Amino acid sequence: MAKLNWGMIGGGEGSQIGPAHRLGALADGHFNLVAGALDHRADVGRDYAQRLGVAADRAYGDWEEMLAGEKNRPDRCDLVTVATPNSTHFQITKAFLEAGFNVLCEKPMTVTVEEGEEIVRIAARTGKICAVNYCYSAYPMVRQARAMVRNGDIGKVRLVVTNFSHGHHGDATDADNPRVRWRYDPAMAGVSGQFADCGIHALHMASFICDDEVEKLSADFASTIASRQLEDDAMVNFRMSKGTVGRLWTSSVAIGRQHGFDIQVFGETGGFRWASEQPNQLIYTPVGGRTQIIEKGEGGLYDDATRLSRVAIAHPEGFPLAVANIYCDLADAIRGEHRDGLPTAPSGLRSMAAVHTAVASAKAGGAWMDARPPMFR
Ligand code: NAI
Repeated sequence: MAKLNWGMIGGGEGSQIGPAHRLGALADGHFNLVAGALDHRADVGRDYAQRLGVAADRAYGDWEEMLAGEKNRPDRCDLVTVATPNSTHFQITKAFLEAGFNVLCEKPMTVTVEEGEEIVRIAARTGKICAVNYCYSAYPMVRQARAMVRNGDIGKVRLVVTNFSHGHHGDATDADNPRVRWRYDPAMAGVSGQFADCGIHALHMASFICDDEVEKLSADFASTIASRQLEDDAMVNFRMSKGTVGRLWTSSVAIGRQHGFDIQVFGETGGFRWASEQPNQLIYTPVGGRTQIIEKGEGGLYDDATRLSRVAIAHPEGFPLAVANIYCDLADAIRGEHRDGLPTAPSGLRSMAAVHTAVASAKAGGAWMDARPPMFR
């Protein structure tokens, strides 16, 4: 099968998420990196792209140059990844979708709800794929968890509790480091800091595993480092459309917590827990029964968990391979085989609506508010 042509915007040398995209996109042989505008500094980006093997004429100085250079090529990109800071996602994603490219956009997909709705409309109108990188949803054992809920293995879900709390922005003396600072600067990050950065992964995960959508929420935000304009800690209570009760804590000042993403789902006949730091295990307890470890790679898993697992049982299979699973599903979708579970623009929009609702709720002292995007009410 011919490889697909892949281009990248952002994710330059030293960036946090760039390497995971490159490892993920190239892991299964579906894509070749053929074009890039990798850095906000044109020369640095061009140089790095060429060191990664991109031809000089496709190592671009910025995304507009890349769009102009790629759009009329017969061998143009089949997929463009947008891995720049949040405030640029909308403009770049919109421009590439409108020019007929498939896009994988980093989260948060946009900064405003209106922009999110526009991306959903453009993707529908152009028929192009607009995926959003909720990569944690592509871990095999997360797919197992979702299949268990869908199959009724824990009964009706009563409660979902999720945390995405780390301590890596907890050092006040590092708060002005440019790689940290943009996340709390409204001009670069939008209306929310930590909730938009990590909380939406947790909220998406709750929706993904429970196969349900967030309907309303109540939020409490705090900026524990005084110089920050946006929150670095948030507690959000939510309710889902099937009645599930949700609790979410997200923080970037929880010193000692490392990655810090976990989720527990409690149903009428059982419950389970998954944590990103032990992604190969799902800890499952049936009501009245013994707690069990369900292990990635063992027999008897649901098909979606088995399909996305490629390393033998008990071998660590980590974050870049979860990102690779997103790229596998994208490659299938580009070749015409849609995979259930690939996060797309409507999920990105729902996250944006939740972010803006959480900001408004926190300002209103935690008032409960409708968290659905107007388009989906
Ligand atoms: P970073 O600050 O580490 O790197 C950003 C990169 O983008 C740098 O290489 C920078 O030079 C480049 N860049 C900035 N503006 C650009 C422009 N206009 N054109 C081309 N390149 C540009 O940021 P990080 O942490 O890698 O985050 C980037 C995005 O990825 C953010 O939206 C963030 O929310 C998302 N992210 C997603 C994660 C996930 O788990 N899905 C994890 C980490 C980040």
